[in-house]
Amino acid sequence: MQKLKKRSWAEPFKIKTVELLKVTTREERNRALKEAGYNTFLLKSEDVYIDLLTDSGTNAMSDYQWAGLMLGDEAYAGSKNFYNLEEKVQQFYGYKYLVPTHQGRGAEHLISQILIKPGDFVPGNMYFTTTRLHQELAGGTFVDIIIDEAHDPTSTYPFKGNIDLQKLDDLVKRVGAKRVPYVSVAGTVNMAGGQPISMENLRQVRQLCKNHGIRIVLDATRLMENAYFIKIREKGYQQKTIAEILGEMCSYSDACTMSGKKDLLVNIGGFLALREHEQEIFEEARNLVVVYEGLHTYGGLAGRDMEAMARGIEEAVSEDHLRARIGQVEYVGEKLLGIGIPIVLPIGGHAIFLDAKRFLPHLKQVEFPAQTLAAELYLESGIRSMERGIVSAGRNKETGDHYHPKLELVRLTFPRRVYTQAHCDVTAEAVEAVYENRESVKGLRMVYEPKYLRFFQARFEKLP
Ligand code: F0G
Repeated sequence: MQKLKKRSWAEPFKIKTVELLKVTTREERNRALKEAGYNTFLLKSEDVYIDLLTDSGTNAMSDYQWAGLMLGDEAYAGSKNFYNLEEKVQQFYGYKYLVPTHQGRGAEHLISQILIKPGDFVPGNMYFTTTRLHQELAGGTFVDIIIDEAHDPTSTYPFKGNIDLQKLDDLVKRVGAKRVPYVSVAGTVNMAGGQPISMENLRQVRQLCKNHGIRIVLDATRLMENAYFIKIREKGYQQKTIAEILGEMCSYSDACTMSGKKDLLVNIGGFLALREHEQEIFEEARNLVVVYEGLHTYGGLAGRDMEAMARGIEEAVSEDHLRARIGQVEYVGEKLLGIGIPIVLPIGGHAIFLDAKRFLPHLKQVEFPAQTLAAELYLESGIRSMERGIVSAGRNKETGDHYHPKLELVRLTFPRRVYTQAHCDVTAEAVEAVYENRESVKGLRMVYEPKYLRFFQARFEKLP
């Protein structure tokens, strides 16, 4: 008798409620795709089979979180759920001050308006769409200071989210520290393929910033996932808990913006949090939040949403949870690598990123290879993914030209605790089917382009 050779891990949960999926025909998908202008953001969710558009707000909550919804204190002011959330943020992230916001970009808006003056420069480890736009709307210019390896999808460097200290130092020397209000540091860098930053690098950035009197604002959106990578990849952290690593990362920052819709296992919510020495900035944020989000003890959220997020923090720091979450992404990535599909290496924390430049080498970047590939995958299988290439990068606000990012990617993003291993197998098989027919795939042209964050609503037509 043949023996099973390995001991597998399994999801650290069982399923209590299910949501039925709809399978569509190719004809139906063809129609839906045309109606959506070949933009997966414009598809109706009911026409999607496996939804890998994003891991944002698409998480499955636990029974503990659902129970928390019933304990929502919907008082306009001073909801007890706010205080529960504040306590968990203090306990796990180590920030004293909390300003809840409806989601991450609400927090980005507040901090950008408070800290950035027209003419300032905001360096960061690669841009994120909403983060950069808020910096620009406040009058700042984003400067990419991530290490070069991050722009190379084939580099297997384990911490491709790291900051190039030389690039940071050069910028500060060139423009002067006074015009750099803060360094924007993201954990598991989304646009680089879900790549982590190392603790050592963060510590060095902190030292450099301290020398120049510059703040660090963390994008803590997927920081717990970053902490997990540090635990398994960085020397000296194997014996530490995720909570300890998380706390140490935050200790090297002055504030953080947070989209709770990712790490924190909820469907909506976010916050701005600040360390004890930032009382003045906190006071300012508390003033502004009332204008844009809601009173400072709810920030655009229902009491029950804050409760679900507070409980989400407790569950998200669990190592078992993170091993399964990141392990699922790795499972799909290994499968694709096994059949020779070009993906970003190393396999990221929240998503597999197909390298559209190598997948469809016959398409020019202005024919939108990643947008095309996302559309083809949907047509083939009903699986929805997202473009992360030239469309997402947008245009240079001075010249009006497209940015031409080195990375032209399609993101297959895994919601937390939602899909099973069988869904993963189906996904890998669908990508394989598109790959087999790749040579016949034609590109797209853009026929409608919105002014801001164009990838959300842009429309395309097939090239003849
Ligand atoms: N920062 C990062 C790194 C993000 O990935 C996101 C959202 C935000 C900030 C903004 O947070 O959506 O709550 O306002 N990312 C989603 C995604 C949209 O699909 O990657 P938000």
